[in-house]
Amino acid sequence: MGKYDFTTRPNRLTQFTSKWQASETNPDLLQMWVADMDFLPIPEIKETIINYGQEHIFGYNYFSPELYQAVIDWEKNEHGYAIEKEDIVFIDGVVPAISVAIQAFTQKGDAVLINSPVYYPFSRTVKLNERQLVENSLKVINGRFEIDFEQLERDIIEHEVKLYLLCSPHNPGGRVWAKGDLEKIAELCQKHGVLLISDEIHQDLALFGNKHHSFNTVRNSNKNFSIILASATKTFNIAGTKNSFAIIQNKSLRQKFQRIQLANNQHEVPTIGMLTTQAAFTYGKPWLEELRRVIEENVTYATDYLTKNTKIKVMKPEGTYLTWLDFSAYGLAQPDLGEKLKREAKVVLNDGSHFGKEGKYFARLNVATPLETVKEAVARIARVFPK
Ligand SMILES: Cc1ncc(COP(=O)(O)O)c(C=O)c1O
Repeated sequence: MGKYDFTTRPNRLTQFTSKWQASETNPDLLQMWVADMDFLPIPEIKETIINYGQEHIFGYNYFSPELYQAVIDWEKNEHGYAIEKEDIVFIDGVVPAISVAIQAFTQKGDAVLINSPVYYPFSRTVKLNERQLVENSLKVINGRFEIDFEQLERDIIEHEVKLYLLCSPHNPGGRVWAKGDLEKIAELCQKHGVLLISDEIHQDLALFGNKHHSFNTVRNSNKNFSIILASATKTFNIAGTKNSFAIIQNKSLRQKFQRIQLANNQHEVPTIGMLTTQAAFTYGKPWLEELRRVIEENVTYATDYLTKNTKIKVMKPEGTYLTWLDFSAYGLAQPDLGEKLKREAKVVLNDGSHFGKEGKYFARLNVATPLETVKEAVARIARVFPK
């Protein structure tokens, strides 16, 4: 038994929770989709919010030295990444930061590259900003995603790519990129003058002994052409409090980023997000260590159960709490797959095709919920998708 409760699933049906909204009217449905965890926050975050409610006046705030220090210490202690206060730019979300970066560093029509399948706001943001989307397909080799570096270089050259949006660790595949992968990416970016945005929001959730390498720790010169995006929100399940940060060590890039942030009036962050981030990074380590063990157990259970009892091919993640399920053996068209999961299995997963064309016949299963719920979800799936 650990110190924290990872076995009770809180009732989220009264909390305007996106993940569980459809269960408000259809309580039989198990919600196993959006990247949000059904675990209670750490007590210190709760206390911080209670204290905010009781003691504060809710006016404008500045970014406190304690908040900067909490981020600096977390990056150093958890990821061996040494940064200075001036490198950090706070913003309300990683996805908003992606918009700012696209607007700051590219023009309409410029090519922006992603490795698909990938977290769907990447392609959406590129397209809505009227940039040219270049999709470099990931390859499945030995049950995990790999980057085809020769194809990557051809794509960069052919489309004159200006910006590369990397998801590291990778959602939905759970790949924790090896140092060698990041070195090759860096070489190609440098060779072809490509700026790299490294979305490292899942950085704290490397599992099974895998190690996350922040892009700039791989080679010192990477900081000249990179923007690192991260936050405490995914790790500590506080996405609704809205706060994240960009680490931009190159001054001229940082100034360009901040100029667009200001042009969009996106330079302020809710006070509550600042406070929860600070509390999470200051007190959250023991909880996170337990969480990782819980997720490892859940991932292993779901992978083994589905592999044994169904024809689904499970991509077992090296990090994140997301599993990528290949349903192609059942020969169902994509909308029918989602419908069958929802209507017959009564489980809601993310539709794989939203992550890119490579996600056709796939679905993404989130296992960040008590093990009993994971067991129930995979048993329901196996009843409808037998071996
Ligand atoms: C790769 C990735 N980036 C960004 C986000 C969301 O970031 P934010 O809520 O800070 O905008 C998610 C959420 O699941 C994610 O998986």
